[in-house]
Amino acid sequence: MLDGKRILLIIAGGIAAYRSLDLIRRLRERGATVRCILTKGGAQFVTPLSAAALSEEKVYQDIFSLTDEAEMGHIRLSREADIVVVAPASADLIAKMANGHADDLAPDKPILIAPTMNVHMWEHAAVQRNAAQLEADGVFRVGPGSGDLACGETGSGRMSEPLEIVAAIETVLGMSAKAQPLAGRTAIVTSGPTWEAIDPVRFIANRSSGKQGYAVASALQKLGASVGLVSGPTGLAPPAGVKQVNIESARDMLAACMDHLPVDIAVCAAAVADWRVASESGQKIKKDESGAMPTLSFAENPDILKSIANAGPSRPALVVGFAAETENLIAHAQAKLARKGCDWILANDVSAGTGVFGGDANTLHLITANGVETWPTMNKTAAAEQLANRIAENFSPPKAEAAE
Ligand code: PMT
Repeated sequence: MLDGKRILLIIAGGIAAYRSLDLIRRLRERGATVRCILTKGGAQFVTPLSAAALSEEKVYQDIFSLTDEAEMGHIRLSREADIVVVAPASADLIAKMANGHADDLAPDKPILIAPTMNVHMWEHAAVQRNAAQLEADGVFRVGPGSGDLACGETGSGRMSEPLEIVAAIETVLGMSAKAQPLAGRTAIVTSGPTWEAIDPVRFIANRSSGKQGYAVASALQKLGASVGLVSGPTGLAPPAGVKQVNIESARDMLAACMDHLPVDIAVCAAAVADWRVASESGQKIKKDESGAMPTLSFAENPDILKSIANAGPSRPALVVGFAAETENLIAHAQAKLARKGCDWILANDVSAGTGVFGGDANTLHLITANGVETWPTMNKTAAAEQLANRIAENFSPPKAEAAE
């Protein structure tokens, strides 16, 4: 199971670090190659020489050191691994990972942590919060186990035994191969509203919160795709593991999307303004004491979905749009699918009272060349997962090819 697998083992500070040396041996016995990073704390407990001797690989100590960077960029360290294992994972390193300070080591690889610390530290609310955050981010965990701790106390906080960690690595690698059907695929997702400036302080916008598009970006990323999210202004936190570009206007969104091509998949969930003010005022438009009203004239914005669907050789293999309609939902959505040249369109009824714009739930109708499929009302995360699964099925090889 581990034959030929490449494991990046990060050894953080903790008395259990000496058992990570045994872990290296166990992994190598099973045919894995092991490359180690010894943190400053880890090096207080085991020497780089021991880790190098057992792994027969160079041991990295300062991932940001110039020498190491020249020989092996720290991003490459994780890129060339099948899994990143942090054993022991100290409270400090868990906090850094949970807060995004160590995220560049493994942007697209499964991560497994084996925590170890004093029982009271492990039970502390801050540590539990950080562990829960990592779980929410998709980081796997083995242990900690219970028993006598090196500090003389008894309770939860022991690093799992090396063979338990080996078993957890095998499980994660088995799961991730199955759970990442979009690994190696690239995607772009548009989301949120666009803001079209009237003058330096005013703009035209709409009620899109970005929730649906962000959920789609995250769902595709979780299935293994490398995802770029082009987002209009929203108050949302960027989804983990997704490369986000923030824009304001439709023209900026188009430019950012075109920069991302070629990709395999495009999903346009943004509520792009169809029109912008023809000539944006360089100065704040003043209220006229005579009571005369300002007149705004409009120009048509570029159609981003249509541009992506007609991008010639750079056209993604699958282009998916959304249709926000307030009447004749299916007929209007079908007409949009044809007019814009996309492959699938998801129709949603956004008439007053549905709460789709800005809300947490959506009722979608997937329209493809094969017909219309109505999905039950569900939260936007579940709807995004359903869409991502359908996209993955679209890319899975036909049965005959898979059997070869
Ligand atoms: O952001 P939320 O609050 O979560 O709400 C989600 C949503 C309602 C915004 C989303 O589910 C949705 O329906 N997005 C599309 C909104 C929209 O602008 O629909 P449309 O029917 O006007 O446009 C059709 C398609 O063309 C869309 O894929 C849109 O992104 C795209 N388009 C439209 C105009 C334009 N100039 N460029 C485009 O790319």
